[in-house]
Amino acid sequence: MAEATVHLPEGVDRFPTRPAQPPADLDALSREILELKRKLNAVILAHNYQIPEIQDVADYVGDSLGLAQQAARTDAEVIVFCGVHFMAETAKILNPDKLVILPDKDAGCSLEESCPAEELAKFQATNPNFYTIAYINCSAAVKALSDVICTSGNAVRIVEAAPKDRDLLFVPDENLGSWVMEKTGRPMTLWKGSCHVHVEWTHQAILRIRQQYPDAPLVAHPECVKAVRMLADEVCSTERMIRWCKESPAKAIIIATESGILHRLRKECPDKEFIAAPTDTCNCNECRYMKMNTLEKLHACMERLEPRVELDPELMERARRPIERMLELSAAPVRA
Ligand code: 13P
Ligand code: SF4
Repeated sequence: MAEATVHLPEGVDRFPTRPAQPPADLDALSREILELKRKLNAVILAHNYQIPEIQDVADYVGDSLGLAQQAARTDAEVIVFCGVHFMAETAKILNPDKLVILPDKDAGCSLEESCPAEELAKFQATNPNFYTIAYINCSAAVKALSDVICTSGNAVRIVEAAPKDRDLLFVPDENLGSWVMEKTGRPMTLWKGSCHVHVEWTHQAILRIRQQYPDAPLVAHPECVKAVRMLADEVCSTERMIRWCKESPAKAIIIATESGILHRLRKECPDKEFIAAPTDTCNCNECRYMKMNTLEKLHACMERLEPRVELDPELMERARRPIERMLELSAAPVRA
């Protein structure tokens, strides 16, 4: 398997720190956000990696699959999406007539950056038998070029359901793709993209923390490299991680994913200790894009009703079909 490639847009630090929050009365801001939400008939959807203050005012906090499912079924007039841009874009594609706003429109994703639609189209043209499965961490234009979308929560299921007579092309995360190949036994051509957060964990760093806490199981996200995944007791999406930790009898658990998830874990499992897996250079690991959202920016976007997600209707139409296919496959009962 080829080495994981880290794609960072120009000017992005490899080891970012969370921007300092200006002093503010966070409780007052939270109250105003809840009041604005009521006035706008809005729903606030937040990813598990968002800062605690945002998670605490959200109507729903979850993984990419749960967020897409919530977006598909909401009857709110305004969707306030606290995550990264491709997630808000997915909500808009599923709700073309609704207003979708987000705290910071520059909150990108290194996986999305790694797969420009023009390059994908060129590669697809090399094999007309390709069936393209796109991880949801990609642009609307890449979704529009794909046969079906998946998230880390349903990737195995989606790949198992792919037509047997087609050559599978999995984009853009080669680490998630190689994990799905291990689980399903289906060969796939993998796009060489990776997440700047999850590739920071190394075999050595994980071995050291496991030696320090020999009784603590390790849970890792499938975006981690294989050398890390092979040391994990469970590899799963962020939502499944919460369930796994709740059900585990362990008193201490090591977590190898973005550290925003620790807030929910500590809230929902107060009797357990959660240890953020260190990398070789840092005691935890944050996604600089997810951390661009602050309570102040959330408040401002709800007051001004911008930034908004705006997309070409024809592009949305093409991108919607593979997302809907994913939602249908995720809802279908699992065959024995
Ligand atoms: P989940 O769908 O597991 O929450 O993952 C999203 C993500 O961006 C991981 O880096
Ligand atoms: Fe993208 Fe990685 Fe951030 Fe997830 S953690 S949003 S995959 S850059």
